[in-house]
Amino acid sequence: MIYPIYVYGSSVLRKVAENIAPDYPGLQQLVKDMFETMYSSDGVGLAAPQIGKSIRIFVIDATMYGDEYPELADFKKAFINAEIYERDGEEVSMGEGCLSVPGLNENVVRPSRIRIRYVDEQFVAHDEVYEGYAARVIQHEYDHLDGKLYVDHLSPLRKTLLRNKLAAMAKGKYKASYKTKLVK
Ligand code: NI
Repeated sequence: MIYPIYVYGSSVLRKVAENIAPDYPGLQQLVKDMFETMYSSDGVGLAAPQIGKSIRIFVIDATMYGDEYPELADFKKAFINAEIYERDGEEVSMGEGCLSVPGLNENVVRPSRIRIRYVDEQFVAHDEVYEGYAARVIQHEYDHLDGKLYVDHLSPLRKTLLRNKLAAMAKGKYKASYKTKLVK
């Protein structure tokens, strides 16, 4: 099933999401549906709050970048109840977009290396280090679980310049090539 994507201005995007229990009803189907929703909107990552569910799940598939970055060749994963507990490396600026903020792409500065604990959809625990593009996408999706959006990280000047655009978006004035939803 393909879910509509909640857009900037929706209150669910600003809530801190909850961990889930191993017996969360329909977990396997939900993870499957999140991948399907992400593919249908050409996203690289999708977090549960973006489909209106305030729970700590996000999915990523960056395998299409495998030619350019070999370490991404098999990077397709679901991250459940994740905790980023180390961030280091260099501060790197790179363009980001978000399915919940249609039509925008802005440079965001983030640390280049993270360490993350999470369980997968079988509730098997993992503790891994990611760098580069993978670390970037994980941090972007992880922010969604804490009610944050990438535009929160922009400089005061960029925020001022985008203020009208974002205010319009929150009133439903945006274009997206996928199904969206705006619920205050
Ligand atoms: Ni996003």
